[in-house]
Amino acid sequence: MPAIVVLGAQWGDEGKGKATDLLATTETIDYVVRTSGGHNAGHTIVVNGEKFATHLLPSGILTPGATSVIGNGVVVSPEALFRELDGLLERGVELGGLVVSANAHIIASYHSTIDKVTERFLGKNQIGTTGRGIGPAYADKINRVGIRVADLFDEGILHQKVESALDVRNHLLTKVYNRRAVEVDAVVEELLSYADRLRPLVADTSLLLNQALDAGETVLFEGAQATMLDVDHGTYPFVTSSSAIAGGVCTGAGVGPTRIDRVIGVIKAYTTRVGSGPFPTELFDHDGAELQRIGGEVGVSTGRTRRCGWYDAVIARYASRVNGLTEFFLTKLDVLDSWEQIPVCVAYEIDGQRVEEMPMTQTEFHHAKPVYEFFDGWQEDISGCRTFADLPKNAQGYVLALEEISGAKIWGVGVGPGREETLVVHD
Ligand code: GDP
Ligand code: IMO
Ligand code: MG
Repeated sequence: MPAIVVLGAQWGDEGKGKATDLLATTETIDYVVRTSGGHNAGHTIVVNGEKFATHLLPSGILTPGATSVIGNGVVVSPEALFRELDGLLERGVELGGLVVSANAHIIASYHSTIDKVTERFLGKNQIGTTGRGIGPAYADKINRVGIRVADLFDEGILHQKVESALDVRNHLLTKVYNRRAVEVDAVVEELLSYADRLRPLVADTSLLLNQALDAGETVLFEGAQATMLDVDHGTYPFVTSSSAIAGGVCTGAGVGPTRIDRVIGVIKAYTTRVGSGPFPTELFDHDGAELQRIGGEVGVSTGRTRRCGWYDAVIARYASRVNGLTEFFLTKLDVLDSWEQIPVCVAYEIDGQRVEEMPMTQTEFHHAKPVYEFFDGWQEDISGCRTFADLPKNAQGYVLALEEISGAKIWGVGVGPGREETLVVHD
């Protein structure tokens, strides 16, 4: 299986890090590639009881035999990159190789400043971004005033590019947001300070990955953010600024769609969301607080408490459709151990009508009320189960019921955060 995509099927934090790590250690994976987003991601990996979090680095960095690649579709903060690498090195972790695309766009400190002032300016309409400068860096890319990794190796070009990037930005900062202008020389100096350390890592990653696939090597594309946070297919404007769906893998890596063999959607046995925006199955009661507490639902990057709700099969079917999922990896089934009955949203009621598919407009989505079906819980600890047959009958029933209504088969199930706390449903 040469090219595998792992991506989020909900609003992020589904357990993509765990799924990637699991595949990277159980199959022979040669490359683990990030293709979108930046250090707004927070992926948790638990190895032998020890917890690691990756943000900008692919989770494959913790698999010594694999090479990690940061593709052209990623926005790279050199400061965050080296902070993360140094943090892992300080823990004495053996790391795999790292390659960074020459075409990836740079996040400089002013992007994060702009992210924060824009959010403040939006007031009650704010998106609830991670404040990492992701949106402003992608905006510069689309406005054709972005700075790319390769620009750091030509001081003259870098100076020109920073100057044109800051031209309009500084008018905005000073005249609209009432902030001090950002100095071009200071930004150039900031970015040049990373050039020497970055240079040996930089390559044409599209060429590298296509050659690897030609040679029959296995490439794993690790999604960040998720389907419902995708800038086109998510709950716009409450989304991130990149293409987090399967299609984004191709543009973000420079690999054609015909090369992809498997697309795995990681999905929680319930739903969470961080930041603002609609969330039909969100719970504001004791059950919501219990999902949050038992699931440890606190953001890895920002420490924000995650909003929690029941599994939403309309979203699962939508994710299956827009990503062309070949399978799901269902995580955190163990979090539901204590419930007597587990509601699952099978459809929406919108203005008195039953709707089975994601509605066409955001207004309708804001009006969507979940239609629940109830499944009997299993009320026992499943964290020790290692095969599907080990699961209590009601837990098996819950998994099979989700499979039936979610639009793709469920390949594996997570019953705990550890690499080994996993069972395979369909091999
Ligand atoms: P990602 O951003 O999609 O990689 O997910 P996060 O790391 O932000 O959040 C997922 C959280 O769930 C992490 O704390 C994981 O360690 C944890 N996790 C992943 N799979 C499972 C599972 O099957 N059971 C439990 N209890 N925790 C899990
Ligand atoms: P992983 O990869 C959950 C959310 C933010 C905010 C919106 C826009 O760990 O699943 P941004 O800073 O990207 O402009 O914020 O997107 N968001 C995430 N939510 N998991 C993530 O990543 C996220 N990355 C961004 O909370 O609502
Ligand atoms: Mg996360």
